[in-house]
Amino acid sequence: MRTQVAIIGAGPSGLLLGQLLHKSGIDAIILERQTGDYVLSRIRAGVLEQVCIDLMDEAGVGKRMHEEGLIHGGFDLLVDGQRHRIDMNKLTGGQNVMVYGQTELTRDLMEAREAQGLPTVYSADNVQVHDFDTDKPRVTYEKDGQTHTIECDFIAGCDGFHGVCRKSAPRSAIKEYEKVYPFGWLGMLSDTPPVHHELIYANSPRGFALCSQRSLTRSRYYVQVPLTDKVEEWSDDAFWNELRLRLDDEANEQLVTGPSIEKSIAPLRSFVTEPLRFGRMFLAGDAGHIVPPTGAKGLNLAATDVKYLHNALKEFYEEKSEAGIDRYSEIALKRIWRAERFSWWFTQLMHKFPDDGEIVSKFQRAEIDYLLNSESGQKTIAENYVGLPLDFGQ
Ligand code: APR
Ligand code: PHB
Repeated sequence: MRTQVAIIGAGPSGLLLGQLLHKSGIDAIILERQTGDYVLSRIRAGVLEQVCIDLMDEAGVGKRMHEEGLIHGGFDLLVDGQRHRIDMNKLTGGQNVMVYGQTELTRDLMEAREAQGLPTVYSADNVQVHDFDTDKPRVTYEKDGQTHTIECDFIAGCDGFHGVCRKSAPRSAIKEYEKVYPFGWLGMLSDTPPVHHELIYANSPRGFALCSQRSLTRSRYYVQVPLTDKVEEWSDDAFWNELRLRLDDEANEQLVTGPSIEKSIAPLRSFVTEPLRFGRMFLAGDAGHIVPPTGAKGLNLAATDVKYLHNALKEFYEEKSEAGIDRYSEIALKRIWRAERFSWWFTQLMHKFPDDGEIVSKFQRAEIDYLLNSESGQKTIAENYVGLPLDFGQ
């Protein structure tokens, strides 16, 4: 088999790249270790920046997103029992975000790919990448007991944090930066109306909580928990009780509880790989970086990596220029580090750090107090939350 771009991973990064490449007349095959149903069963964040919305449109898959996505012009910070609205729309001169679950976005991309008859191999075992330091890279995989080889011009490593591509890069050529946080997020999805029409990020003495949503009838809530907690130990009732203890009276009056559809604990991590290019192999999305979820930057960063990579590959094929692929890593990393910084900052502002004393809580309160009373402070949060422009500082 031969293709122009072999894409490893059918998460949002791989699927979006495949769609954009197809629009530009560039062939790609996607290899995915899991089944499609498994990929769709993973619950992830669901706040899209405008650049991500625009990319879904550019890929020709934005119809359902526009019909069902909810536009949010602000969100609340809840601190010391007081709610403060960050009016993103006003603070950024009219920008918003859209609440649309990553699962739905992935489904739209999968369905479009299938409808166009574009090749995706699900349940591909033992995917291996070869010869990406030459101009004839290859990918091998096993399916139904047989080994297959794909010859290609480029390999796109869209295979997430645990993927094979980053691990195959020569150790001497790669540097990894990592911070692991001393707590996790226990998330619960339920078919109950959201407690508020916008998101609430709460810094409470019992720890962080987030009230998010997927639709007008489906809520997503999180509470900060110790890393030693096990999800089986958290009954639905225990979750709702703990959430209540971290919210204000008004929210508690509005809160509608119900059975969980999904409950899981996710660790929090900041992680960046440098560079994102190894000869003819590129990393995009979670394969190259992870952010803690505070601020929902993971999917948005994956989408912008893919935009830069698509532009670079298009330039290679249409203009026979390597300038774009040569700059991909540098341009993508600039944006990645900015979002990493914001996600780290927002995490340390809103969580209770078990090893820090009371003085750190006082610093947090003072910082929040400063931010909320300063228009420039609020603007800083708002412009990072809606997403910095693609060409910011380039
Ligand atoms: N071979 C083939 N596929 C693989 C392999 C492998 N060796 N390893 C991993 N994969 C697949 C995974 O099964 C997964 O479906 O690669 C896909 C990677 O998808 P994601 O983890 O969703 O990563 P990405 O597409 O970059 O999306 C980033 O996901 O984790 C969130 O916050 C993150 O929202 C962001 C988004
Ligand atoms: C979510 O809805 O899952 C979500 C929303 C906002 C965040 C993180 C997660 O900052």
